[in-house]
Amino acid sequence: MSLISADDRSWLRQLLGARVRFDEPMRRHTTFRIGGPADAYAMVAGLDELGLLVKGANQRGLPWTAVGNGSNLLVRDGGVRGIVINLGPYMRTVVVGADEPAGTVTVKAQAGLALPALCRLALANGWDGMNFALGIPGNVGGAIYMNAGSAGGCMAEVVHEVTLLDRQAQRLTMAAGNIAWDYRRAPWPEDSIIVEGTFKLQMTNKENLKRAARQWVLARKRRQPAAASAGCFFKNPSPQTPAGRLIEQAGLKGKCIGQAEISCEHANFILNRGGASADDVLALKRLIETTVAERFGVELEPEVVILGEERHA
Ligand code: EPU
Repeated sequence: MSLISADDRSWLRQLLGARVRFDEPMRRHTTFRIGGPADAYAMVAGLDELGLLVKGANQRGLPWTAVGNGSNLLVRDGGVRGIVINLGPYMRTVVVGADEPAGTVTVKAQAGLALPALCRLALANGWDGMNFALGIPGNVGGAIYMNAGSAGGCMAEVVHEVTLLDRQAQRLTMAAGNIAWDYRRAPWPEDSIIVEGTFKLQMTNKENLKRAARQWVLARKRRQPAAASAGCFFKNPSPQTPAGRLIEQAGLKGKCIGQAEISCEHANFILNRGGASADDVLALKRLIETTVAERFGVELEPEVVILGEERHA
């Protein structure tokens, strides 16, 4: 049942106008195309508004959860109680400045900027550093939060500073060097929302950079399926034991439950073949975890963030 009262609704409407939706299916906001309703789905237009939203929700005792663009997210079929906050459509400003040493560029990007847009900007200007992120569909905030990356690198290697809003809506800027980044995560203060990232990139030869980018994108396309998914589902236990290889060797490629399928192209992708439920995906997740544990004694850990509650009978 929705936690949003009639009074909460009118407060949210007053604050956000048409940028709040109620009982909004999260399948519209995830690359998996899966997910039950969020009680309220809020798209904030700026930092001040985000602060007012967080403070107001805290005062009203309403839970809130910030999401990126839903590309690394599985929302359960019962949906998410309280307010889901998205910085995506509006908070996308980019400020660029030259820096020391010569040839260094500082790019300050708001969290809602799509990572592919940042990669395109870097390519168009010959700024080296972002090619590892080509093909990662997240936005800047979500990608920093998750320390998103690929075999070519990760956010921790290019981020210089991170600005976040803490639970009390206070702004806090952290130097990247003081953050204990880890593989696909970092220890952010609880309930913080990343609002801005500053990147340090290097001026380089534009044509060489574009050539390398084309090769990278092609290689990635060859290896990864195009159907709806949340990317790699599990973290690699180590660079030498990629989860995809373990799942393939366990004989699980092509296995289906409901409309969810373990990709035949890349076994660490669970695909939504059209109309899959989160329950279907979670059943495949359990099958993978138990089979890989039995066969290889390895406990896989999801990379995908799992949110929300199960559907009530
Ligand atoms: N492999 C198999 N079977 C499979 C899939 C992979 O044997 O079904 C083997 C490959 O042959 C290769 C090894 O596993 O030897 C690694 O595979 P791949 O190069 O595809 O990379 P990955 O480790 O599976 C990582 C990231 C991807 C990123 C790629 C490319 C993780 C969990 N995954 O995948 O990121 O796109 O490198 O750089 O770190 C994501 O984060 O959502 C994601 C897709």
